[in-house]
Amino acid sequence: MSFFQADNLSINFGGIKAVDGVSFTVPKGQVFTIIGPNGAGKTTIFNLVSRIYEPTQGRLVFEGNDITRVPPHQIAALGIARTFQNIELFEHATLLENLLLARHAHKKSGFFAELFFLPSVRRMEVEHREAVERVIDFLDLQQYRDSLIVNLPYGVRKVTELARALCTDPKLLLLDEPSSGLNVEETEDMAFWIQDIRSLLGITVLMVEHDMKLVSAVSDQVLALNYGRPLAMGSPREVQTHPEVVRAYLGG
Ligand SMILES: Nc1ncnc2c1ncn2[C@@H]1O[C@H](COP(=O)(O)OP(=O)(O)O)[C@@H](O)[C@H]1O
Ligand SMILES: [Mg+2]
Repeated sequence: MSFFQADNLSINFGGIKAVDGVSFTVPKGQVFTIIGPNGAGKTTIFNLVSRIYEPTQGRLVFEGNDITRVPPHQIAALGIARTFQNIELFEHATLLENLLLARHAHKKSGFFAELFFLPSVRRMEVEHREAVERVIDFLDLQQYRDSLIVNLPYGVRKVTELARALCTDPKLLLLDEPSSGLNVEETEDMAFWIQDIRSLLGITVLMVEHDMKLVSAVSDQVLALNYGRPLAMGSPREVQTHPEVVRAYLGG
């Protein structure tokens, strides 16, 4: 049984095949990266996996279950979390509040239990706070926990976005361009965080990324796309030197 699998995934937008017959398998515990020029269909694949878009064709399988028709609000409960290419945090709330909100949104205790603040709810609340504090410690965000997001430097917000996703206890983490907007040093730090998430937390990562240094540093396997179609798949080195991939980047 494969951990995560996309089978012949396709979606059309008014005649444009944004994703066209894409298949790949992500083994548990690995980092699998999708690369490709702008408009290749990378973010669209993430929107298909997180069930925001309906595929025109194809199948998604997670831990042996067909999740092709699972509604988007149930995806997080299954253990799939994502970060966004453009950071999506509550700017006028603190870092801690953002993480608690993310945690609560995915770990519900039930309306009546919450209304009467039953012991089970109190216990859950302690668990939520402990889980969030663990993530803050793990990503070294202690000094920013009470800062409003709007006052944080971009690089810290980017790590906070990662923290927000980790607070839902994902088994599969989707990272959409984790290095976008970061400088060289921040990108190197991001590579370390991704490696730690994989090796210390055992979380499987599906990533979209354009920084080839980051891709090579963290990826077990790479899939290159162009115009929604797969060009090459293999180790970072194999894919980067593949003639079709070189042509797509130079000729694009
Ligand atoms: N909701 C949408 N409606 C129409 N076209 C879309 C939509 N989402 C993506 N597309 C188109 O699909 C193609 C792939 O986009 P995208 O997945 O965002 O590319 P990228 O690889 O840069 O992330 C582009 O041509 C884009 O314009
Ligand atoms: Mg994109």
